[in-house]
This record gives sequence, structure tokens and C-alpha cells, in this order.
Amino acid sequence: MRGTVFGIRKALAVEVLNSYTHAATKAGIGLAVALTLPIGDTDMSRRRMVYEGKAKVIYAGPEPGTLVQHFKDDATAFNAEKHAIIEGKGVLNNFISEYIMKHLNTVGIPTHFIRRLNMREQLIREVEIIPLELVVRNVAAGSIAKRFGLEEGTALPRPIVEYYYKDDKLGDPMVAEEHIAAFNWASPQDLDDMVALALRVNDFMNGLFLSMGIKLVDFKIECGHVYEGEIPRVIIADEISPDSCRLWDVKTGQKFDKDIFRRDLGDLMDGYTEIATRMGVMPEKSVARPTGPKLVH
Ligand code: TMP
Ligand code: ASP
Repeated sequence: MRGTVFGIRKALAVEVLNSYTHAATKAGIGLAVALTLPIGDTDMSRRRMVYEGKAKVIYAGPEPGTLVQHFKDDATAFNAEKHAIIEGKGVLNNFISEYIMKHLNTVGIPTHFIRRLNMREQLIREVEIIPLELVVRNVAAGSIAKRFGLEEGTALPRPIVEYYYKDDKLGDPMVAEEHIAAFNWASPQDLDDMVALALRVNDFMNGLFLSMGIKLVDFKIECGHVYEGEIPRVIIADEISPDSCRLWDVKTGQKFDKDIFRRDLGDLMDGYTEIATRMGVMPEKSVARPTGPKLVH
């Protein structure tokens, strides 16, 4: 863990201690044992890492059927050809994704989110990830603008849903329903459920962001199965954050999302801070966005 600044380490230690104490209490472990668990770092050697992706790490959760999703500060673009560490990004994505997922859960759109544990981590339901990314577009930008020669910012006649096959080695190629069915990446029922979820998320998030003066240009979601008895149900997984959405100021068109990094448009943290602030979830600035060590005289 790269949190070298005292403020962030201290806050993380306290938050991690809280989550461990909570988990330990729930699991019937005494507080004394909980206190002996390492608290100064989120990269805890005793935890079982399940998966490490480009921007997140997944650890085994405190109870069966749960996982811990840890947001890193890594920013990547163009299938990780471009990479940087942007201190505090993981904290903001944790808070922003929490805000969105909580709202989705509230309106009955099922997600894997259970609760935030600390500055960088959230407790989630374990799902069987379906190897597809669904992109919903309201306004032409990015790859669709390039593919069809559209001017960025052109409103699309209706929301367009696209499918991408999740495979980093292949660069997540765009695929058609035919490929999905032929290679059995998802059943026709799964795909129907995913599209329905994606469109509900789009409707809901359009309004949510509009109320903050932000235009939802496009976004990507991932889904997974959970089993309720024998019956598999499709729910939203992964994250929904400015890493996976395009978010523009309604009035000025200013970009607040990862395009700032992809296209070298300025400081990514300015955009993410603006979103977190408009959502009212901006953590204390010194924690989310450390300014570096201070000399003590
Ligand atoms: P695109 O215009 O590059 O295809 O991106 C569409 C949306 O999907 C945009 O909001 C960014 C998001 N996205 C991801 O979340 N992960 C990815 O790997 C890519 C390429 C895009
Ligand atoms: N997340 C993808 C990557 O690292 C691409 C992107 O978001 O633009 O490579």
C-alpha cells in the first residue's frame, strides 16, 4: 500500500480497525484478538487475496458468500498501456461507487454492494462474474464517436447498449449477441436480464446525475450471478465510478471522468473531487487527497 502520508495511514488504520472489530464481533472473535490483527495497512498479509485487477483487489470476506473489494490508486487506459498511480483515486472511487450502488439498491436494482468498510474497501456479495461488459451510451463519445465518425457530444436517438467480452489479453473486444450465444458466455435469459438492468441503471443514473448538474454520457457495468436457493439471479457487480462512466458538466461540458487521464486533460483528482463534492460524499480532503508530508518544527 502506497499511503505514505501520515494522515491517510492514520485514517486507514482507524477505519480498518473498525471493520475488523465489527467483523470479529460478528464472527464471535473477542476484541482482544481483533486488536492483535494488523491495522496499520490495508495490504494485510493474513487476508486471502482472491483476485487482483488493474484498479482493485478482491479479498475473501468475513463470512461465506462475501468478499472485500479494495480500491487501488492505479489508473490505466488503453488496456493498461498507459498507467499511473494517482494518490487518493481509490478512496474517491470507493465513496462514489458506494453512493451509486446504495441508491440503486434503494430503488430495487440489485447490486453486490453491502456496505463500505473503510476508506478504500467495501463489503460485497460474492458473485459468479459473467464475462461481459455492457456499455450504455446516451451521447456519442469515445469509441462509438470514432467508429461511426460522430462528433463527440451528439445526442444519440436512443440509449444504445453494446457488449464487450471481458478478456484483457484480447483487449475486451466488442461482440454481438451471436458470439455470446455461440460461445455460451451468457444464456439468453442472462443477457435479457443484463440489458434490462443496464437500462434501468441508465434511467436512474441519468436523473441522479442531472440533479447534480452532470450529464451521464455513457457508462459500463458488469454483472454476476448470485444463487437464491437453486435459482440464479443476475445482479450488478464491480464498480460504478468515474473510471467507468463519462460524466460532463451540463452547462460547460467540462469532463469529470477518466477521460481526463486517458487524454491528458489535466488533474484527474479535480474531476473526481468535483463529483464526490456534488454527491456530498467527499471525505476529508487531507485523507482523500494528501498534499504530501509536512515538516514538523
Ligand atoms: P469507450 O467509448 O472507450 O468504448 O467507453 C465507453 C464507456 O465504458 C466509458 O464510460 C468508459 C467505460 N469503459 C470502461 O469502464 N472500461 C473500459 O475498459 C473501457 C474501454 C471503457
Ligand atoms: N480500463 C481499461 C484499461 O485499463 C481501459 C479504459 O478504461 O480506458 O486498460
